[in-house]
Amino acid sequence: MSSDLIRAESKGNMQDFEKACKDFTWAQVEKEFDWSNGGVYNVAHEIIDRHAVSWRKNKIALYWIGPANEESKFTFGEMKNLTNRFANALTDVGAKKGDRVFIYMDRLPELYISTVGAMKLGAVSSPLFSALGPEAVKDRVLDAGAKFLITQPYLYKRIEPVADDLGELSHIIMVRNGPDDGVLPEKGTDYHAMMNAASDRFETVNMAPADPYVVHYTSGSTGKPKGVILGHKAMIQEYVTTKWVLDLREEDTYWCTADPGWVTGTSYGIVGPWLLGTSMVTFAGRFDPRTWYSIIERHGVTVWYTAPTALRMLMKAGNEVVKEYDFSKLRHICSVGEPLNAPVIHWGKEVFGKRIHDTWWQTETGAQMICNYPSMDIKPGSMGKPFPGVVAGIVDEDGKELPPMTQGMLAIRPGWPSMMVSIWRNAPKFREYFRVPGWFVSGDNAFMDKDGYYWFIGRADDVIKTSGERIGPFEVESALVEHPAVAEAGVIGKPDEVRGEIIKAFVILRDGFTPSEKLKVEISDFVKAKLSAFANPREIEFVDKLPKTRSGKIMRRVLKARELGLEVGDLNTMEE
Ligand code: WTA
Repeated sequence: MSSDLIRAESKGNMQDFEKACKDFTWAQVEKEFDWSNGGVYNVAHEIIDRHAVSWRKNKIALYWIGPANEESKFTFGEMKNLTNRFANALTDVGAKKGDRVFIYMDRLPELYISTVGAMKLGAVSSPLFSALGPEAVKDRVLDAGAKFLITQPYLYKRIEPVADDLGELSHIIMVRNGPDDGVLPEKGTDYHAMMNAASDRFETVNMAPADPYVVHYTSGSTGKPKGVILGHKAMIQEYVTTKWVLDLREEDTYWCTADPGWVTGTSYGIVGPWLLGTSMVTFAGRFDPRTWYSIIERHGVTVWYTAPTALRMLMKAGNEVVKEYDFSKLRHICSVGEPLNAPVIHWGKEVFGKRIHDTWWQTETGAQMICNYPSMDIKPGSMGKPFPGVVAGIVDEDGKELPPMTQGMLAIRPGWPSMMVSIWRNAPKFREYFRVPGWFVSGDNAFMDKDGYYWFIGRADDVIKTSGERIGPFEVESALVEHPAVAEAGVIGKPDEVRGEIIKAFVILRDGFTPSEKLKVEISDFVKAKLSAFANPREIEFVDKLPKTRSGKIMRRVLKARELGLEVGDLNTMEE
């Protein structure tokens, strides 16, 4: 823990953090919504329709930048018509309130249109990251019992091997933009044909606050990814955090680099900025320092929300590159998803002359919870302080709050508006988060210092965070053992300077297979093709045995301790 401070430079929208904490109520925030004045209760109404009937009708909602730097833009008025068309098109093929709609797509404008369009009719949207492989898509579609999938021909081709195994999925809506985009599958309809045939008038459906608007599949340390459901009422917190943490203003151009397949990409890559009627940029291409910097310069990005791994990669690309670009419009940078180490914050201050504001939250919390604010001094390496109205604590297994400077479980008092409303069809899993009386337990360990700043220590479980993506070791192990050469596998996160962690697999080979570098590559590629392009192990070690409990469970903590050269701890239950 360093004692240096990066002083506040401006007050920001919140003005005074201490005062906000004293005076704040969520009920005050509710007044800002159309629904509190008798309007329809639906997040899609608040992010698009309300602006389309105001002076913001001709304001740009979305600047879209394609992989080859091609650009297009959409006003709030245009977004209203397009999302209305999509809501009608989806209704025409039988979609109803409560249906789960998967959007498996690159960051195309159609992703935004269909995600919001589905919300309008009361469906539960689920954007899926386009790096997911067939098994990952299948698991999600089956678990959610989804009937509708909106995708692109090249992605459909990728999941074709599992196409007959997608349960209730009855409609595949294909966004065919290219000339050689191929024929439609049996259950397929053409997105553009549907849109052309649909009316641009639609009455957005009135929802209850706890009705789901989005489901994000996210990983734990056991089992397959679970569907975390966020309710429409999450908009209350998405709105006020966007205003006070991201600190967006009317004239801003905002860029969130996260994909809507992850919660950051929906809560702050769609909902938050559009609740405030902010113009935002999205980039459908790959990470590249010069491309990223040129987007910030060309579009005059004022607030940029990204992840520590991306910042560390930019840092690696060097200071000279930064000098080629103009960052004068940028006010500050925000970060989320993994620990933001102090050197990165200092680097940001040095090369951009900007503060980097770390924010801590989770898929399950739905919105930002512990943050740094423009009006507050930054302690580099700290996640900041709980947002006004959020009550956090460092607790033990009995829910007893621990004193400052003591490591414990990071927990939150339930009741914040964006808290997940359920885990899809998995009540026991949902209840686990509330096993400590009076608290939601985050799964992270942390401590609070004497000034009330929170410091991240690590996950309390085996969940891996690699390049900010959340990965369950079980999923990777399950994919590994499907490879013909693999008998057993144990997977851990291994610390990595740039990516936070990398996935490391310990593998026992089947009889008749010989360890080789070539086999490692083959096994890793196998996981990549099956599961996803970010869940494959970057390191594989062949071993003769794996540490297990007497009941046969692989002891990942032992693998990890050995990897790090640490004491292994209590091995009472181990049977090797
Ligand atoms: C980790 C992302 C340190 C943490 C919005 C958490 C962080 C998990 C931070 C949630 C941070 C998130 N500092 N660690 N500022 N923010 N994490 O669900 O372990 O993808 O529990 O949500 O990321 O990841 P998820």
